[in-house]
Amino acid sequence: MPHQFDSPLPIDAVLDELDRTLDRHNAAVLVAPPGAGKTTRVPLALLDAPWAKGKKIIVLEPRRIAARASAERMAKTLRERPGETVGYRVRFGSKVSRATRIEVVTEGIFSRQILDDPELNGVAAVLFDEFHERSLDADLGLALARDAQIGLREDLRILVMSATLDGARVAKLLGDAPVVESEGRAFPVETRYVGRKVDAPVERQMAETIATALRADAGSVLAFLPGAARSAAPRPSSPSACTMPRSRSCRCSVRSTPPCRTAPSRRRRRAFARWCWRPRLPRPR
Ligand SMILES: Nc1ncnc2c1ncn2[C@@H]1O[C@H](COP(=O)(O)OP(=O)(O)OP(=O)(O)O)[C@@H](O)[C@H]1O
Ligand SMILES: [Mg+2]
Repeated sequence: MPHQFDSPLPIDAVLDELDRTLDRHNAAVLVAPPGAGKTTRVPLALLDAPWAKGKKIIVLEPRRIAARASAERMAKTLRERPGETVGYRVRFGSKVSRATRIEVVTEGIFSRQILDDPELNGVAAVLFDEFHERSLDADLGLALARDAQIGLREDLRILVMSATLDGARVAKLLGDAPVVESEGRAFPVETRYVGRKVDAPVERQMAETIATALRADAGSVLAFLPGAARSAAPRPSSPSACTMPRSRSCRCSVRSTPPCRTAPSRRRRRAFARWCWRPRLPRPR
């Protein structure tokens, strides 16, 4: 079945193969590099498969944030809102409706779902995303889904997806399931070492380095600072503060990340907000 999406992604090259594989087999492993489109494209691409007709596809994500974000992204791709064709179920909030065909859930939620309904009625496929992260919940979920498939639901599709997985080993667990691999796309990486002046604060040097990078290249910058203390320092929140070129604007945004893992989640997020900043720039024309 041809797949039509507005923006091409590397995973598109293997979608037909994946379709054919899941037509013939009830389990498969998909290995594709980061950013290929496993999370946000594969579930959408499988929606029209004959075996999925009138049934749901469940996508397991290891984290709540990822579950929500991927559902939102897929809904946006369909020009819908989460809770329509694509929804999510996570602890402290769900967005699903009777129309929902793709449900993105956290692994813990799935374990409870399958324990309540071992046959997984109305479910056509279970997609285990980011499987390389391995967790007790993911392993339990896979074991239960495989058990249901062998004992009760031969038609249930199981797809394990990962960027870095040793596909062959997981395939073996799934009864020598076929492995579909996508090469993805590679970008050249250039390392420029700018050195460090011992007599100047690292924060200021970072700001200068960011401004230099922005002057030299098009695109955005993702900057990391070592430790929460540094993050309290003034940051380039405006073009003048980071000596941005006049033609570029500079906006900071927040992303969650490990360095403040020990702090409670709200404080952690705030600490990270300061720890990492990302000037967002207009796209190069
Ligand atoms: N919310 C979003 N807004 C804009 N672009 C997005 C969004 N979500 C994903 N993308 C882009 O879509 C592409 C595919 O992303 P996706 O997360 O599906 O890849 P992936 O194969 O699952 O990657 P990973 O192995 O890192 O999980 C990437 O280029 C990514 O940057
Ligand atoms: Mg992903």
